[in-house]
Amino acid sequence: MSAASAVKTLLFWVLSVMDKHFTLELADEAATLQAGREFSKQLNAGAVVYMHGDLGAGKTTFVRGVLQGLGHAGKVKSPTYTLVEPYVVSRFNLYHFDLYRFIDEDEWYAAGFNEYFNEDSVCLVEWPEKAERILPTPSFDVKLSLLNNSEQADGRTLTVLRY
Ligand SMILES: Nc1ncnc2c1ncn2[C@@H]1O[C@H](COP(=O)(O)OP(=O)(O)OP(=O)(O)O)[C@@H](O)[C@H]1O
Ligand SMILES: [Mg+2]
Repeated sequence: MSAASAVKTLLFWVLSVMDKHFTLELADEAATLQAGREFSKQLNAGAVVYMHGDLGAGKTTFVRGVLQGLGHAGKVKSPTYTLVEPYVVSRFNLYHFDLYRFIDEDEWYAAGFNEYFNEDSVCLVEWPEKAERILPTPSFDVKLSLLNNSEQADGRTLTVLRY
């Protein structure tokens, strides 16, 4: 990303703090990663981020950018089968959930997932719709939409809402 567009991205985030809401076009995967890195600066311990968007919209890619922004240098696996992947970053514990396959509310409590949402952690949750009744209210809603309904290319639209 060029210096000029990086400044532009930063400006969007400054505006977002004032507006509590903004939309940005992400031309490619690199732009989604960059947006995640910028967004990570908004995160403080205790934050809960709902990640909305269809299958393949770029939610995990965005979380990968967030983790990069927080200094995580390792891999970021999609928690599709494990439901959650934990990370320790400099400022807090970060839990990345993917609840697409989540069914059993009893399992949620038995696994201690509820305790992952606390004042020392940040939780980013893909498919929050699947556990609406038990999740805490979000600090941010992030939504990624496919342009032209194609997962292959053509970019994405990002919308961020801050509560
Ligand atoms: N802005 C973008 N433009 C085009 N492709 C993108 C963009 N951002 C991410 N992608 C690509 O979209 C694909 C799917 O991304 P990703 O796995 O992050 O989606 P997801 O929303 O997490 O899907 P799922 O709901 O299945 O977990 C990847 O191949 C990624 O490179
Ligand atoms: Mg994903």
